[in-house]
Amino acid sequence: MKMRTVVFVVAAAGMGLFAGGCSPQKAEQVKTVQIADGTIDPAEWGKAYPVEYEMWKKTADAPETPGLSKYKRGNDNPKSMVDKLSEYPYLALLFNGWGFGIGYNEPRGHSHMVQDQLDIDASRVKAGGVCLTCKTPYVNHLVKTMGPDYYKTPYKEVLAKIPDQKNATLSVSCSDCHNNKDMSLMLSRDFTLGAALRDIGVDTTKLDHQTKRTLVCAQCHVTYVIPKDKEMHSTGVFFPWQGSKLGNITIENIIKKIQSDPAYGEWKQTVTGFKLGFIRHPEYELFSNNSVHWKAGASCADCHMPYTKVGSHKASDHRITSPLKNGLKGCLQCHAESPEWLKGQVIAIQDRTVSLQIRAGYATATVAKLFEMTHKAQAAGKTIDKGLYDKAKEYYEEAFYRCTFIGAENSVGFHNPSESMRVLGDSVAFATKAEGLLRQALAQAGVSVPAKVDLELAKYLNDRGAGKLKFRKELELPDPSGVQNRF
Ligand code: HEC
Ligand code: HEC
Ligand code: HEC
Ligand code: HEC
Repeated sequence: MKMRTVVFVVAAAGMGLFAGGCSPQKAEQVKTVQIADGTIDPAEWGKAYPVEYEMWKKTADAPETPGLSKYKRGNDNPKSMVDKLSEYPYLALLFNGWGFGIGYNEPRGHSHMVQDQLDIDASRVKAGGVCLTCKTPYVNHLVKTMGPDYYKTPYKEVLAKIPDQKNATLSVSCSDCHNNKDMSLMLSRDFTLGAALRDIGVDTTKLDHQTKRTLVCAQCHVTYVIPKDKEMHSTGVFFPWQGSKLGNITIENIIKKIQSDPAYGEWKQTVTGFKLGFIRHPEYELFSNNSVHWKAGASCADCHMPYTKVGSHKASDHRITSPLKNGLKGCLQCHAESPEWLKGQVIAIQDRTVSLQIRAGYATATVAKLFEMTHKAQAAGKTIDKGLYDKAKEYYEEAFYRCTFIGAENSVGFHNPSESMRVLGDSVAFATKAEGLLRQALAQAGVSVPAKVDLELAKYLNDRGAGKLKFRKELELPDPSGVQNRF
């Protein structure tokens, strides 16, 4: 691969990030203007930094040219959300039982994050105020004033406690990432990300600059657990990184953590009746797990906030979006290939990922249906071999968490192609084993199982929630390999 001349701007970092590779150039030093302590309103920050403020506001807009990204179409059309359950129909079966099985959309621009929670089916924010943790810049105020009640109090009641109600739907803002004194990068969510980093042995008082260009994003672009009490009320929120190491947070350790306590079973899957945990957008975890770009010292901001000329001013692009929608500018700091060539590589990686993801998804959904059949047989008085059943359940969960880990990760494999394929390959293997075990158990009990299990997808895809949402065939992603999806 043709690489540009290496430019080092940061001395070898304490966290082993810069063993080699290139670091991008820095934006010009801008004069710093005093912003009063505790200022959250971005309009105030914007008086001092109008260039960044104007770009930040543009996260509300759809791209000027839609269709630049093959898989991340979430912000292409401001009038229509992209329904992930229609893109990947097996998800409607797997997530049936709670909010994610009703409304689950592709992400769009930062500006919309709180409004999108208000607009989606109310079941999605049933967990309570805790849903605002990676949405509102007022989170620290809410946690401080409400204490543990913050987590379980109904979402809208908590939203009404935001002190500046004209900013109730304000999304991630300057104060979430910057120190008001000198505009240096700063983590605002010590109670979530700070705690998680300390759990994996990171000294959060000694984070270097390039590390923070990733960690400001890791405040939200991570998976998390919302533990429940006996009444299924939310009691907190944490990142399941315990047992992992910096640069190697694995799906294996995340699954172990989720399964270590019944309080982490956040919902009940209808088809199987199993109480399960859940995986959300693990961008930081996948990227930082020994990916080529993590090893090359790249940060989230390098690719998603490239330096941009605005008049005579050079600034980091605060209109944070997909690199395919900003001309792959960030890539060109290190790569000498053309944007077209790089885009072709991104799509090739994503096509392979989607192909295996679809296979893993349908294989897992098939096992879920076999469990439904098994439970029906038990209810009808048939005896199912316990050893086979327990092993099948264990493998099923392994398959489920793996395929939803990559499915929830928003780069469609790009952030770490080889790890994505490894995890999805394991998902297929676990699902296939579970299927074999259940077929054996059912055969022993005298239940005949058809060669092709009917997933009854229409049942899960149509008339979802209060909005009676329907399957949108035009959104379904075909398997790029050309192999039939549902086998
Ligand atoms: C306070 C939490 C938070 C922080 C911090 C945050 N994000 Fe996001 N990000 C979100 C949420 C939530 C969405 C989805 C918004 C929606 O769909 O309503 C999102 C969406 C995105 C998107 C999709 C945008 C599009 O145009 O479709 C990208 C890309 C992204 N974030 C990258 C980043 C990067 C890079 C950083 C760090 C520089 C970052 N985010 C920091 C919460 C956050
Ligand atoms: C080496 C470059 C690179 C780095 C580093 C990187 N990303 Fe990405 N990211 C991409 C590409 C390429 C895509 C795929 C975009 C697409 O398909 O449109 C992507 C996709 C995403 C998306 C989905 C975008 C959308 O439009 O829905 C999010 C969110 C995201 N990245 C966040 C992050 C976060 C957070 C980090 C750091 C933990 C990070 N990225 C690190 C290149 C990068
Ligand atoms: C999601 C995190 C995030 C948010 C929100 C954010 N910034 Fe930034 N900002 C960054 C990152 C990352 C950089 C690059 C810093 C660096 O490497 O020195 C940056 C850089 C800057 C700089 C230095 C010059 C430049 O452009 O590189 C200024 C000034 C700035 N931001 C102002 C703002 C203002 C004003 C807001 C709110 C309207 C804001 N930022 C919101 C992450 C953020
Ligand atoms: C900080 C520098 C840096 C940035 C920024 C960067 N890359 Fe890379 N990239 C590298 C290095 C180093 C390698 C490994 C090169 C090698 O092995 O020859 C690499 C490898 C790759 C590969 C092949 C490896 C793989 O993961 O399949 C692709 C494709 C790629 N980059 C695309 C991109 C795209 C697209 C962007 C922008 C969205 C980007 N890169 C941004 C440094 C960077």
